[in-house]
Amino acid sequence: MQSPETFPASADEASLQLHPNGGLRHLLTLKNLQRDLLVDLLDAAQHFVTPNGSIAARSDSLHGYTIANLFFEPSTRTRASFDLAGKRLGADVLNLDVNASSRKKGESILDTIYTLQAMHVDIMVIRDASAGVPAYIAQNVEEHVSILNAGESDVSHPTQGLLDLLTIRQHFPDFAGLTVTIVGDIAHSRVARSAAHGLHTMGVSDIRLVSPAKLAPQADEMPFATLTDSLEEGLRDANVVMCLRIQRERIADLDGIPDVEDYYANYGITDARLAVAADDAIVMHPGPMNRGIEIESAVADSARSVITQQVSNGVAVRMAILERVVDTVTRR
Ligand code: CP
Repeated sequence: MQSPETFPASADEASLQLHPNGGLRHLLTLKNLQRDLLVDLLDAAQHFVTPNGSIAARSDSLHGYTIANLFFEPSTRTRASFDLAGKRLGADVLNLDVNASSRKKGESILDTIYTLQAMHVDIMVIRDASAGVPAYIAQNVEEHVSILNAGESDVSHPTQGLLDLLTIRQHFPDFAGLTVTIVGDIAHSRVARSAAHGLHTMGVSDIRLVSPAKLAPQADEMPFATLTDSLEEGLRDANVVMCLRIQRERIADLDGIPDVEDYYANYGITDARLAVAADDAIVMHPGPMNRGIEIESAVADSARSVITQQVSNGVAVRMAILERVVDTVTRR
């Protein structure tokens, strides 16, 4: 799954994603996106949220457009929700089976992209294990094509960040004053990075990153957040607790990384440990979740858990993003 190609880090990913008309053309990162834009996207997504059991929100706003889902890493939630989002907006959706694609015969990722572009694909949704891929592709596609980052190595997962913000806002409409605690393998987590940047932009002043020392991020990477290896310290009075799995597939040297029992004993989110959190604290997990490792099964299924709500919001957020980039590219 790891791409054999290497990709230069974009000098300015944040500005690359904006069209000359000021609109959002690509979604590559939440870092440095303006608060007003995040609020607009959350508001738009909220319109697409409907309760399970009712008819899912839909429109034909993307009728005539073609979306290609290119997942060079495994996915259940992100891929399925982009697929459903595109179809519920009336687009043609191509889910390329990358394991049976000509990349296996040595075709470069850009030649794959140019091939799809020649078939009138307007939006490409990319997940890749290599850092820099979404920005690299965004710099090389035709003007009418938009690139959406669906998970980039350990760097960024902006649609996950947006669905996390939407879920938090549904419980706590005012971000100011919230304490949000992210627990787990922060070092290798694109989810943690996108969530932390989005929360910071939305005005959350108390963002806590809790992990064993070997899974901590660089001390200066997110200067707006507090780092600790103490779960109890991190959970005290927290309003939002986000659990992460250990991304063993991204760790070359597992020496010093806690084993399953050790991790659960010290960092597993259990009902007992949540006693120090705020009374109305919610528990989140981006999935896929490992019950009995990073989260007690009873907590995952408890009234505090908003994990399935996050999944539902994922479709709504991706519908909002798809509509937004089409609106940007077609706007005069
Ligand atoms: N949260 C997330 O990205 O899940 P998937 O890997 O299943 O898409």
